[in-house]
Amino acid sequence: MRLGVCWYPEQWPESRWAADVAMMRDAGLELVRIGEFAWNRYEPAREQWDWDWLDRAVEQLHGAGLEVVLGTPTATPPIWLARERPEVLTTASDGSRRQVGSRRHTCPTSPAYREESVRVVAALAERYGTSPAVTTWQVDNEPGNHDSARCWCDACTLAFRGWLRARYATVDDLNEAWGAVFWSQVWPSFDAVELPRPTVTAHNPALELAHRRFASDQVVDALREQVVQLTALSPGRRLLTNHYLGDAVVDCRDVGRLTGLVGHDNYPHGASGPYDVGFRHDLCRGLADGVAPWVVEQQPGPVNWTPTNPPVPPGQVRLWGWQAALHGVETLLFFRWRAARFGQEQYHAGLLRHDATPDRGLAEAVRLGQELRAAAPALLARPPARVAITYAYDDAWALEIDPHLTGMTHRSLVLAAHEAASRCGQDVDVVDPEGDLTAYDVVLAPALHLCTPARVAALTAALDAGVTVVVGPRALVKDDDDAWLDEPLPGGLAARLGARVGDALTEPTGQVAVAPYDVPAGSWTDVYEVHADDVTVLATYDGGWLTGLPAVVRRGGLVATGAASAEVWTALLGDLLGVEPAPRGVEVFWRDGQRVELDWRTLTLEKGT
Ligand code: GAL
Ligand code: ZN
Repeated sequence: MRLGVCWYPEQWPESRWAADVAMMRDAGLELVRIGEFAWNRYEPAREQWDWDWLDRAVEQLHGAGLEVVLGTPTATPPIWLARERPEVLTTASDGSRRQVGSRRHTCPTSPAYREESVRVVAALAERYGTSPAVTTWQVDNEPGNHDSARCWCDACTLAFRGWLRARYATVDDLNEAWGAVFWSQVWPSFDAVELPRPTVTAHNPALELAHRRFASDQVVDALREQVVQLTALSPGRRLLTNHYLGDAVVDCRDVGRLTGLVGHDNYPHGASGPYDVGFRHDLCRGLADGVAPWVVEQQPGPVNWTPTNPPVPPGQVRLWGWQAALHGVETLLFFRWRAARFGQEQYHAGLLRHDATPDRGLAEAVRLGQELRAAAPALLARPPARVAITYAYDDAWALEIDPHLTGMTHRSLVLAAHEAASRCGQDVDVVDPEGDLTAYDVVLAPALHLCTPARVAALTAALDAGVTVVVGPRALVKDDDDAWLDEPLPGGLAARLGARVGDALTEPTGQVAVAPYDVPAGSWTDVYEVHADDVTVLATYDGGWLTGLPAVVRRGGLVATGAASAEVWTALLGDLLGVEPAPRGVEVFWRDGQRVELDWRTLTLEKGT
């Protein structure tokens, strides 16, 4: 894993650059990302380009042997542009226009924004596209972050209607698919359809889901226009995006198809714990078809944007780096080189403190680099995964729109299964549920909510190939338009399971356990009714009137668990694989026949036990 850093030369006096660059090189860093927020600095007024300073920054980095990752600046269009063409700004759901002063305030659909993006990216790529210094382009910055994908402007309304026309042959088909008869919501024509604007109570979930899909597509289309420019003007360079994978706003698999390489911004303090961080590394790999991902921004110390911004104990930054390396990350850049003296992120740590003296993160980054260079190659080679976890953005959206139990999320379901795999020493591929699943030993489908023929076919093919498939609660419940199926659940698989979901319940009390594992059931519970003789009930509920009812059932290679706490998944997966899971707080990897443990309770890395 190569190490680098994010640097903002435009925020520091040029007299300081040489010292910074020399320190970066001496720290063993190999790449530096620059430029992604500097639009106004190189185009202070329309078509009045000022490239000289950026030329010098690029040259200095190159002269020191550092690779440049150049960001396109479309997350922070300058204020002069918004004044000239206010239609680039996003509109909130209440109809108010979002104002300048922050970032990601632009509408991904707006023809003016698209035009200006292409114009600036083309200018940037003409200048640096063939520079030997620039090996990689970062396209935009955190597309869709800060919930910026959904916009309620007029351009979006029109584009949404066009998007619906392409999806449904007639408006009658749309009304049918959406169940618009419910509450008299029948849309008289495509031109009458409105974005989900604030109303009295909930909107039709079908409309909400369509809006999320549409918004994601708009972001991807806007990125595509940049990619076209970069591919033409900067041949042979890698294209990369950096996503915040803590939420699911844009279908990043679509982005991966566009760029072939996906990165993520790794801020463990914004995650729910170390297993969530490990999951994000694995998710990121899955977004670009197994291509080793990048961490484009790595937390180097405390951050400024969580509710509490706790301290980062000594040893933590190094271990975050090792975790990324063990999950197969190819390149990791720390964010940021030096803590900012002004602007919105003054309490965010850098590798250097505000006064340019080294912060603790720098020493750990240096040590990490030395350790990685000294490590046996086999330790850093991720073997092919035997376990896959299915993950799809539309499931995340459908469960967010209609969670049944406030606070329960798609992510929590997926994480429970991923924690189980980590504690059982399994590398995990996070995969598209419609892809080929037949090469794995075990496929976990912890949150496969929407039921499409392609998903059922993929799971069926895996079962036919001898793969063990485990589905979780709320599996295969609704169709592709978010309407409940008209058949026993899990849809498409109940006959094969020899059992069906009898009740889909919430479990808000925390009192219901699962026997024989003797662990809590979790917050969403499905209770099975068994109707075939050869079904094995692997576990039952234990608590109140649920006591004795089937919680986990199996028939052949198909297993269904209606209880989905991390503890249930861990016990179940340990049984299925025949391994003793590690305690909570430990991640286990097998590298070249050696057991490697990351113990997050003690911040230690143990090799070869
Ligand atoms: C990321 C963003 C960076 C910086 C960082 C702070 O979301 O891409 O520009 O804001 O967070 O942690
Ligand atoms: Zn818009």
